Amino acid sequence: MNDLTAAASPAGSRQAREGVRATALPTGVGITALITAYARAQESRRRDALFVDPLAESFVVSAVGTAAGTGNALPRLGPARDDGSSALWTSLCAYLAGRTPFYDRYLERALGNGRRQVVMLGAGLDTRAFRLPLATGTTVYEVDTPAVLDFKAGVLAGHEPASAAERVLVAIDLREDWVGALRQAGFDSGRPTVWLVEGLLMYLTAPQADALMAAITSISAPGSVFAAEYLNRRSRMDDVPISDSGDRAVAELLTSSDRGGPGVEPEAWLSRHGWVARRSDLVEELAALGRPVPALFDPERSDPLRSWLITAALPVPVRDVDEDAPMQTRRPVDSEVDSSATPE
Ligand SMILES: C[S@@+](CC[C@H](N)C(=O)[O-])C[C@H]1O[C@@H](n2cnc3c(N)ncnc32)[C@H](O)[C@@H]1O
Repeated sequence: MNDLTAAASPAGSRQAREGVRATALPTGVGITALITAYARAQESRRRDALFVDPLAESFVVSAVGTAAGTGNALPRLGPARDDGSSALWTSLCAYLAGRTPFYDRYLERALGNGRRQVVMLGAGLDTRAFRLPLATGTTVYEVDTPAVLDFKAGVLAGHEPASAAERVLVAIDLREDWVGALRQAGFDSGRPTVWLVEGLLMYLTAPQADALMAAITSISAPGSVFAAEYLNRRSRMDDVPISDSGDRAVAELLTSSDRGGPGVEPEAWLSRHGWVARRSDLVEELAALGRPVPALFDPERSDPLRSWLITAALPVPVRDVDEDAPMQTRRPVDSEVDSSATPE
């Protein structure tokens, strides 16, 4: 048990109770997958929920070992608490849940335009393969560490909801030969891919992020699209309000595992890799959803932490009427890059 889950487990035990299945928990940065699932579970319970992700609560319940928190609340999981008592958690929850609709829209649009191959890098406990209405024939590759994917599979075993999509779990550290593992799992680099890199880049150093993007580009057919989350700088302890030792543990985990990501403005970084990108600010996304600014991303502070939600597309090949002429490319039009536009 680590600091985060210790704070979560009532009576110091994670034994299955109330019919809850005991499953080995991910550790280290894998815990962030659970924290994200908690935010989605909490959001799903709201009357004005931005989305409903019923499996998110199954992950939380399985991790904590009980379905019961105080009153009708979710059980506590480290800093995550469903009672409004932690400013840090309120802020993190608004952030993690608030970015979800952006990527839902991106996926629906990208798949609505006929693409049938999705790769989620750092997939964590993402349940979009079940939650979104994906077309038959869609394959969703979920890439994450073995610990996270084992936990996910353990919780879903026996009561996995139906999905029109085929899910393929690829258990590997993204600093290893993940492209080889993905290909071996059936990935087809001749087909356009919908890449989803939500909440991952900050856990990589600039060279690791560059290597990841170069690998993505090397196996992306024309027509591929990409979405990721991007922080403007490293997070720091003074970015987050701390209420108690549970908050301190998560703040330490988040700041110590933050490796800075690409460290270059997103459009320039993606352009260097051959992509045309567009950014959206999380705070503006939340405002459009009628949600307040999370304290973590308060733009009024000096040197504010900002989260940009990025979509990008590869230039599209254009065939000349003369079959022998060299292939030209054109920049993708706005609607190919922008996740908020409706499908053509
Ligand atoms: C904040 S969670 C986001 C999970 C998911 N994308 C979501 O939004 O629900 C970050 C995920 O990235 C994964 N991750 C971080 N570094 C990784 C690495 N080097 N290799 C594979 N997965 C990694 C973690 O295990 C974790 O599941």
